[in-house]
Amino acid sequence: MHGVFISGAIFVIPARKNNYHNSTICYIFNMNIKISGIVTDGAKRGRTIGFPTANIALDAAYKVENGVYAVKIKFDGMTLDGVANVGTHPTVEESRLTLLEVHIFEFTSDIYGKKTEVILIAKIRDEKRFKSIDELKAAIQNDCKVARDILTKC
Ligand SMILES: Cc1cc2nc3c(=O)[nH]c(=O)nc-3n(C[C@H](O)[C@H](O)[C@H](O)COP(=O)(O)O)c2cc1C
Repeated sequence: MHGVFISGAIFVIPARKNNYHNSTICYIFNMNIKISGIVTDGAKRGRTIGFPTANIALDAAYKVENGVYAVKIKFDGMTLDGVANVGTHPTVEESRLTLLEVHIFEFTSDIYGKKTEVILIAKIRDEKRFKSIDELKAAIQNDCKVARDILTKC
């Protein structure tokens, strides 16, 4: 089954994997999860693996399914595209808390302390414990490709 998880529901998309239908994805966009939060300081390993992330404090009130999502992130009056992981990053040092980490496409500035809103557009996959950092890097590279594909249709 190919589907997109959003707001606790699964929308089955009758199409090939990663070949999302325009109107379906934009319809989902109007009703998906928005997470507001302040960007906090992470361990900054993301920079060393080539995918810097903004870590957003995830309030316990948000019950978001762990996994990798295509997202839009708003701050300073801008809306940018990216890809996010919700989870405990078990491949590196497993965190006790669930984290929301957003890699923003073509963006390298530090936005520490900024108030943001992250909109989860579509779930791409589950979070996984990879055997190596290289496998993790390859997976994130593919996540970026899938997310860009989804987001250009929104
Ligand atoms: C798109 C994306 C997908 C990710 N997927 C996973 C994953 O499946 N498993 C995992 O352990 N970590 C995953 N991560 C988390 C990375 O391990 C984490 O961002 C990296 O280690 C840097 O963390 P730090 O900046 O808190 O040090 C993902 C991160 C991103 C941005």
